[in-house]
Parts: sequence; C-alpha cells; structure tokens
Amino acid sequence: MRGPRPRAGPGGAPRRVRAGRGFRGRRGGTPGVWRTAPAPAGPAAGRSGAPPRKSAREGPAMRIGIIGAGHIGSTLARHFTRVGYDVAVSNSRGPRSLDGLVAELGPRAQALTPEEAARFGEVVVVSIPFGRWHELPSAELSRKVVIDTSNYLPERDGHERDLDQDTITSSQKIRAHTGGNVVKAFNALPWQDLRDGSRPKGAPDRLAVALSGSDEDGKAVVAGLVRDIGFDPVDAGNLGRGGRRHQPGTQVFGRKLPKDEMSEIFHAVRR
Ligand SMILES: NC(=O)c1ccc[n+]([C@@H]2O[C@H](COP(=O)([O-])OP(=O)(O)OC[C@H]3O[C@@H](n4cnc5c(N)ncnc54)[C@H](OP(=O)(O)O)[C@@H]3O)[C@@H](O)[C@H]2O)c1
Repeated sequence: MRGPRPRAGPGGAPRRVRAGRGFRGRRGGTPGVWRTAPAPAGPAAGRSGAPPRKSAREGPAMRIGIIGAGHIGSTLARHFTRVGYDVAVSNSRGPRSLDGLVAELGPRAQALTPEEAARFGEVVVVSIPFGRWHELPSAELSRKVVIDTSNYLPERDGHERDLDQDTITSSQKIRAHTGGNVVKAFNALPWQDLRDGSRPKGAPDRLAVALSGSDEDGKAVVAGLVRDIGFDPVDAGNLGRGGRRHQPGTQVFGRKLPKDEMSEIFHAVRR
C-alpha cells in the first residue's frame, strides 16, 4: 500500500493535482461506478482551478490538510501518512494539543492551526461537528478541493431551518461558506470501519466509500485518495441530489457495503 515518497512543494505554493483514474458518469448527479483503467493523463481544471494530478501511488503525492482531528480526522491522517502523503492536522484547541497524534503519525505529519492546515493542503479534509461550519477558514479553503466528512445531526449540532426543511444539504452549506470545491466523502462509514476496513484492490471484502460532488475533477481527485487508502469509491452524484443519497437516514448510511451493492442502491434511489 505504500506509495512513493512525496515531494514537498516549493514555498508552500499549491502544486498541481491530477487524478489517478477517470470517472464514468455525467456532470450533474448521475450515480456512477469508478473505472479501474487509468484515465488519460491530460489535465482538466476543476471548480477550484486546480488541475487534477496523480495520486500518491502513481507519482508525487499531494499535501493534505485536515481540519478536525477527532475520530474521522485522525483515522484519515493515519491512512494518508501510511500510504505516503504529507499531512497537517488541526483542531480547535491548537497545535500543541495534537503533539501525541503527530508523534504517532511520524515525520510526514505536523500540527498547525486550521487556517495553516487549509493553506498547507492541496486537498483539505473538513471533519468537525457540522454545527461549527461557520468557524471554518473560508478564505483559505476557497480554492481547494475540500473533503467534507460531516453529517448534520440536529441533536448534536442544533437545528438549522434550511436543513430541517431540506432546501439545501449540509455539504452545500459548507460549499457556500467556503467557496471550495467540496466533495462529500467518508461521512457514511463509522470511524471504526474506516480504521479497520482498508483492503487491497480486488479483495472480496473491500468496502465502498460513497462520495458526491458537483465537479467531476474534484471527485476524481478524492476517488483516487479513497482508492489509495484501500476502499472503493462509489459516486452518488452531485452535492445536492447525490449528497442526499448518503446522508444520515439513507440506505447506505452506517453500513459496510461492497461497491456493487452500493451502486445498485444509488441507481434504485434514482429510479
Ligand atoms: N464518528 C464517526 O463514526 C463518524 C463517521 C462518519 C462521519 N462523521 C462525521 O464527521 C465529523 C467528525 O466526526 P468525529 O466523530 O471525528 O468527531 P470528533 O471525534 O468529535 O472530532 C471532532 C474534531 O473536530 C475538531 N473541531 C471542532 N470544531 C472545530 C473548529 N471550529 N475548527 C477546527 N477543529 C474543530 C475537534 O477539535 P477539538 O477537540 O480541539 O475541539 C475534534 O478534533 C462529524 O460531522 C461527524 O458527524 C463521524
């Protein structure tokens, strides 16, 4: 599973991001299954303006910022450093509170503030209790591929009228706040299954990770990350209709599913 040693970008400047594999599906929300064949190498700019580039296993790795280093954020940090990415973790209490995690993660990890982690990452994971979305550093996230792992849980987050009325999804709210190229992913798998479920490609018990987003290039980048850490990405569609297919209360939420079964569920929901 280990990828080549990642190269640091010069002076913190954003590096080009290229997806490892292509996506079968149309812009606008059609559920799809990820191809296994490599995509053509040509770059294509996404909403973020960042052209996709190779995943860690196929070339120079990208830097990943992580805002929220709890169950999901720290689990992803462990996976990403294991396969060769450079990671910056952050939380609300400050970098020193993450000394133990950084020591465990090793030389590919550092702790920063959320603003710094957002600047550091070419891809930035947002993994905080959803109700604190307004605290996210929007200026720093505005041109990034942002992976949103969060779920709207009113009993924890407090009620938000537009979400209760389903006029918007939680990830659309994060996109509106940050201006980032938001891809919802890793929200539907319990953290223990994310921690323990990594398997090599083709393993019969490899688990699916649902993702959704309105930009195909952003989704392709995130799909590459999902694959690199040992899961199969399954596209649910765009951030609106697609996001609603894997939020709390849906058929896939909280379940360990292989990719074919998850795809069937998404297609059935569409009909
Ligand atoms: N737990 C699961 O199985 C699971 C599975 C899928 C998705 N999710 C979703 O993923 C998100 C994270 O879940 P979790 O279980 O990992 O939560 P968690 O264990 O409670 O961790 C939350 C993290 O967010 C940080 N945080 C809170 N507010 C912040 C802010 N304004 N800026 C930076 N960091 C902030 C916290 O830091 P401090 O401790 O310093 O405040 C903590 O590190 C939630 O939306 C959850 O619904 C959870």
